[in-house]
Amino acid sequence: MTVEAKLGRIGGRKGATVVIGLFEEELLKEDSSPVLDVKLRKYISEILKLGDFTGKKNSLSVLYPSGAVPPARIFLVGLGARSDFSLEVARQAAGTAVKTALDCGVSDLTTLVHGLDLPGFTPEACAQATVEGAILGGYRHTEFKSDDSDVPNSLEALTVMSSQRASASAVKVGAETGRIVAEGAILARDLSNAPGNALTPRVLADTVRKMAHAKGITCNILDKKEIEKLKMGALLAVSQGSREPPRFIILEHGKSSKKKETLVLVGKGITFDSGGISLKPGAGMEDMKHDMSGAAAVAGAMQAIGELKPSLHVVGLIPASENLPDGKALKPGDVITAMSGKTIEVINTDAEGRLVLADALAYAARYNPAAVIDLATLTGACVIALGHAASGLMVNDVAMADRIRKAGDTTGERVWHLPVWKEHHDQIKGKTGDIKNTGGRAAGSLTAAAFLENFVDYPWAHLDIAGTAYSAKASPYRPAGATGEGARLLVQFVRDWEAKGIPSNG
Ligand code: BES
Ligand code: MG
Ligand code: ZN
Repeated sequence: MTVEAKLGRIGGRKGATVVIGLFEEELLKEDSSPVLDVKLRKYISEILKLGDFTGKKNSLSVLYPSGAVPPARIFLVGLGARSDFSLEVARQAAGTAVKTALDCGVSDLTTLVHGLDLPGFTPEACAQATVEGAILGGYRHTEFKSDDSDVPNSLEALTVMSSQRASASAVKVGAETGRIVAEGAILARDLSNAPGNALTPRVLADTVRKMAHAKGITCNILDKKEIEKLKMGALLAVSQGSREPPRFIILEHGKSSKKKETLVLVGKGITFDSGGISLKPGAGMEDMKHDMSGAAAVAGAMQAIGELKPSLHVVGLIPASENLPDGKALKPGDVITAMSGKTIEVINTDAEGRLVLADALAYAARYNPAAVIDLATLTGACVIALGHAASGLMVNDVAMADRIRKAGDTTGERVWHLPVWKEHHDQIKGKTGDIKNTGGRAAGSLTAAAFLENFVDYPWAHLDIAGTAYSAKASPYRPAGATGEGARLLVQFVRDWEAKGIPSNG
């Protein structure tokens, strides 16, 4: 997949398939959009007069100029009302256009930058969003198909056109950032979509190692013996019911820049969650191959960070394990000792994510981090609370909530801040051990966060992505299956942090 930014007129692209985003208001004007050159404007205004194209968000009409202007196909894609524009509108419009292109068998697409020139949106951000939407909208998971006759085409080349010299270099930078960030999210989707038999903790670690080497990221993978040496009793307890040994993956960007602040990203890496001895019901259990989506988001974000090279020290931590029932498996009632020294009374072996995260969060403390974010498909309760429209956000520091909400608003990955109160901590007080790994049915996502809070002593945010990491339904730039949720948000968070540093309390 190549992405190129070019200065010039889109109407001059001979034989190309070109995408033009139009706002509803522009359809009312005789001369349609000011972004179009005269010939194209004249040609398009004829069609607009017929009223077939509405300009509503994600509406699309295909025009065949047959020689009237140089392009072979023109896609008009609706951007909705001008006052309603956001980067998410740009991403969705681009995704919609790419889907239509692939249906037409077109793998080479030229597009205008959606939203360029609108006040409040930089050319760079608009170009990034347009490219992200296009690449992500063209994503298909085909790795495990043996017969490619029913496999749709894929996008091979994307050209982003702008006729304005003043913003050309910003468009170029934004387009390149968009490619890098989208490819990170695609790595996250590929990892999350991979079946459990193909992506064991070992394979996850090996795949991440290859990515790290390719991008110049430091990678250290701890095997079972090294995990034992660190006394990661919670991670070991989860993995003891599986024939596949656990892994603890450590990724680092900017390791040598010791003076820089350290941000740590932690991802739950359960490559398959059967529930263990507290076995899950059979229906839908296959979706639990996605239970490493937090890890996938961290790997995807780290890939992009390796390319964007922010001047910060960024660490990615992935505790990876299967959760299976077995004669040696962890049992309800067992008491285990986490790396921090706290004892955990296991009430339900299906609450395994918080166990592996407990050791990863304790490990994160050694970096003296300025901030730590963990991402996890942690609780079904989060899906009940927020559905699939937002990830649950829980923090021990309000500034973190603001930063994450802002990053998610920018990337179109919605988060919703939920509380963690003393009452939630009370729910998980242990009888035999220090704490229990479940607190009953009430406020299941919040007691899970309270559990994690026992293992952090730095500014921290937890994102429960159980409802957003994968979807049965497709949307404009998210086909059904893994969404890659969190990968772009993490990159945005890191870039925002780099741009502004720590906000003062004033
Ligand atoms: N991986 C699941 C959570 C999950 C559920 C993710 C649905 C995606 C969709 C997690 O390990 C789990 O099983 N959590 C339990 C916790 C309970 C036993 C306290 C749950 O949510 O039922
Ligand atoms: Mg579970
Ligand atoms: Zn799980």
